[in-house]
Amino acid sequence: MLVKLLASVILLATQAFTANVSASYHYELGLNSTAYQQQFDELLQHGYRLTYISAYSDEHNQTLFSGVWKKTSTSVPWTARHGLTGSQYDTLSTQLKGQNYHPVVLNAYNLPNGEPRFATIWEKASVGTWEQQRDMTEAQLKAKVSSLGQLRITILTRYVVGNQVRFAATWGKRTATDWHGDWFYSLGKTSFDTGSASDGYKAISMNAYSVNGDPIFDVVWQRVSSGGWDAPVMSYQTSGVDKDTYGRTYKGYVGTGFGPRVLTGYYLEGCGIQYAATFEKDS
Ligand SMILES: *[C@@H]1O[C@H](CO)[C@@H](O)[C@H](O)[C@H]1NC(C)=O
Ligand SMILES: *[C@@H]1O[C@H](CO)[C@@H](O)[C@H](O)[C@H]1NC(C)=O
Ligand SMILES: *[C@@H]1O[C@H](CO)[C@@H](O)[C@H](O)[C@H]1NC(C)=O
Repeated sequence: MLVKLLASVILLATQAFTANVSASYHYELGLNSTAYQQQFDELLQHGYRLTYISAYSDEHNQTLFSGVWKKTSTSVPWTARHGLTGSQYDTLSTQLKGQNYHPVVLNAYNLPNGEPRFATIWEKASVGTWEQQRDMTEAQLKAKVSSLGQLRITILTRYVVGNQVRFAATWGKRTATDWHGDWFYSLGKTSFDTGSASDGYKAISMNAYSVNGDPIFDVVWQRVSSGGWDAPVMSYQTSGVDKDTYGRTYKGYVGTGFGPRVLTGYYLEGCGIQYAATFEKDS
């Protein structure tokens, strides 16, 4: 059996955190739409809110969902949907924007028949200026990034429309928590840009897929510290891990005070479903 070892774990700092936050988080990997909705409803009743969702296809072309939940006592209004067509997403956007919500997660995926769908999470909070656009070609994405020079990408997701690659993205203000507002994105890389992490960047949006048996990543990086091993802000990224390895990684991180943040799956021939994920110090 061909076993590819692609796992990489980046440790950004040496400072130890001991708080065990396992009771505050929950994750699910690879649920079909029905099972995902059941989990969503059940977790909602137990006080958990969805904080990340991604969808991908397995080797049988079945659409699967993975999610991260956080138990929260704060009353920030939020709402989540999946399985939306582009026009349903636009309708929802208009409605939610009118109620002062903004998108915090947007994940585009393709159904077995090739049709694009969107999964999304929105929050009601005042975040100032934000923008979004879907169905962009790579050239249109780049043009939009230039024209929105004062804003940074907050979410970037890739999908296909009629065999053509398309992107959907959201933009937000560069805030005081950003290190000089620094950020950048990379498309179609065959590995994580590990150098970026040690320079004080964290991955805030990830998209993973495979081409000819190789994993490919689109990543948005945001600078959160001056970098180096003594960086005060910590986050971890892991990519190319299977379900069991993700589970062990998850246990290790939440046991020492880190919550799951980004979690995205992709099918890799010879390896099955692989996951790329980030963990951040619980706040
Ligand atoms: C969805 O997943 C659940 C739990 O694994 C399973 O019982 C059910 O048969 C699946 N439904 C479909 C349509 O595949
Ligand atoms: C999955 O979809 C692809 C592209 O439409 C197709 O070539 C392939 O045969 C499908 N695989 C299965 C197991 O249905
Ligand atoms: C964290 O708490 C969970 C649940 O109580 C426990 O299973 C796990 O072993 C703990 N992890 C550490 C590192 O203490």
